Amino acid sequence: MPELISTILRKYLVDLVPPRPPVMQDMERYAFDLGFPIIGPAAGYFCYQQARMLGARKVFELGSGYGYSTAWFALAVQENGGGTVDHVVWDEGLSRMARRYLSDLGFDDIIRYCVSEAVSALREAKGNYDLIFNDIDKAGYPDSLPVIESKLRPGGVLIADNALLRGRVVDRDDQSEAAEGVREFTQRLKDDPNWITSVVPIRDGLIVALRR
Ligand SMILES: C[S@@+](CC[C@H](N)C(=O)[O-])C[C@H]1O[C@@H](n2cnc3c(N)ncnc32)[C@H](O)[C@@H]1O
Repeated sequence: MPELISTILRKYLVDLVPPRPPVMQDMERYAFDLGFPIIGPAAGYFCYQQARMLGARKVFELGSGYGYSTAWFALAVQENGGGTVDHVVWDEGLSRMARRYLSDLGFDDIIRYCVSEAVSALREAKGNYDLIFNDIDKAGYPDSLPVIESKLRPGGVLIADNALLRGRVVDRDDQSEAAEGVREFTQRLKDDPNWITSVVPIRDGLIVALRR
């Protein structure tokens, strides 16, 4: 697949993001060195902006890794006056790493940690959310949708990463579970009158959907 956005334009977009605190820069370096798939600065800043515009005070993340995307949502919630961000990942080691980084960033009073399969954790969660961020394995996207819908308040926002899957979504020869999962998730949101949905081509594409 060709690059969706040229390297030079990608750098331009990242350079537009304001400087991050040293801890977040460390997290970005770790992802770069290990090839760990974080959302990165441009998509992270966009998520932060969405959460600020919404005034989100309750955020749930599915598939949080070591907490880079969590840091952007926690910053927004803190600036919105405080609240909670649920960090959920099924890997104990990543959860531990996240606790260290996010504590160093001063978010101890905001973040709740859960080591679990993320969709079942959301199903068990109490109350509704202002914003839900989905970044689990892409094959799991379709089954996550009814649970997300049941836990997002009306007027709440769903953001899902990897909407473009490096162009694989338009490669009809790609029948992998991941590509089919993202296609079905996007199509169902687009076809459902209960959602207002856009795909924003930042980095690997973000689905942004407003629940009516
Ligand atoms: C793409 S990475 C997360 C990156 C993170 N959102 C960020 O941008 O910093 C997805 C992480 O979620 C985990 N994961 C995938 N599917 C999951 C699921 N169904 N439940 C819990 N964790 C999951 C993966 O093992 C991986 O650590």
